[in-house]
Amino acid sequence: MKEKFSWAAGVIQEAGELIKQNLSLYSVNTKSNAKDLVTDIDIMVEEFFCKRIKQEYPADFILAEECTVAEEVRTDKNLWVLDPIDGTVNFIHQQQNFAISLAYYENTCGVFGIVYDVIKGDMYSCYKGQGAYLNAVKLLPLQVKKISESLVGFSHKWLLGNQLDNYRKALAAFRNYRYYGVASLEICYLAQGLIDVYLSGNLKPWDYAAAKIIIEELGGCIKGLQGETLTGLEFTALIAGEKSVVDQFYELCR
Ligand code: IPD
Ligand code: CA
Ligand code: CA
Repeated sequence: MKEKFSWAAGVIQEAGELIKQNLSLYSVNTKSNAKDLVTDIDIMVEEFFCKRIKQEYPADFILAEECTVAEEVRTDKNLWVLDPIDGTVNFIHQQQNFAISLAYYENTCGVFGIVYDVIKGDMYSCYKGQGAYLNAVKLLPLQVKKISESLVGFSHKWLLGNQLDNYRKALAAFRNYRYYGVASLEICYLAQGLIDVYLSGNLKPWDYAAAKIIIEELGGCIKGLQGETLTGLEFTALIAGEKSVVDQFYELCR
């Protein structure tokens, strides 16, 4: 099984090279609305992965953001969960701060997750039970912190919606907030102590499934905003962080 993990890490690096070669050669299209963007590179990278996965592991299923695979998705089987470019807006505006996110599940349980910051060349990875890594460096367990000494990562878009009202007091308790626009990487930033908690009102499995495996390996948790347990395959609002700071958040929401 570890071979599958090594194989996936190699394919991600190949895909990263493909993206770098096409960094200035993309066209942009809209999806559900004018602000929901996709480039032809997102599609190209997803097709690249799907082809490689189907060649190597024909019985496996793929759940990928751009839905380029025509067949049904069976979450109870061997399942790859892919975001070919997480942070598409960053990709378009900055040509940096975006990631490839790939998780592998068996029977709805995460086996390994890889999040690759293509431009920095930083690969966050974890094979469940065998440690989490940033490149070759083993990551340390998440630190216990007070909420008043913690940074929270969340989207300002949330500030514009009504949903915030329930969480206003809890969010005000943090030292400050940061927003990077790339959910998979932001959750991995917890592992580096760049932020301490990550919150989102609306994520899809491909945004967070891989990072969830990494963060849980480091003693962190990813749960629903009311404390619901998640498999990583839900379309959901969520909070991620070290368990005691997440509990402080829930306490302040009461
Ligand atoms: C988005 C980014 C963003 C998050 C959105 C995601 P995309 O993914 O991760 O940070 O706030 O919810 O949809 O569209 O760039 O792959
Ligand atoms: Ca995404
Ligand atoms: Ca994407």
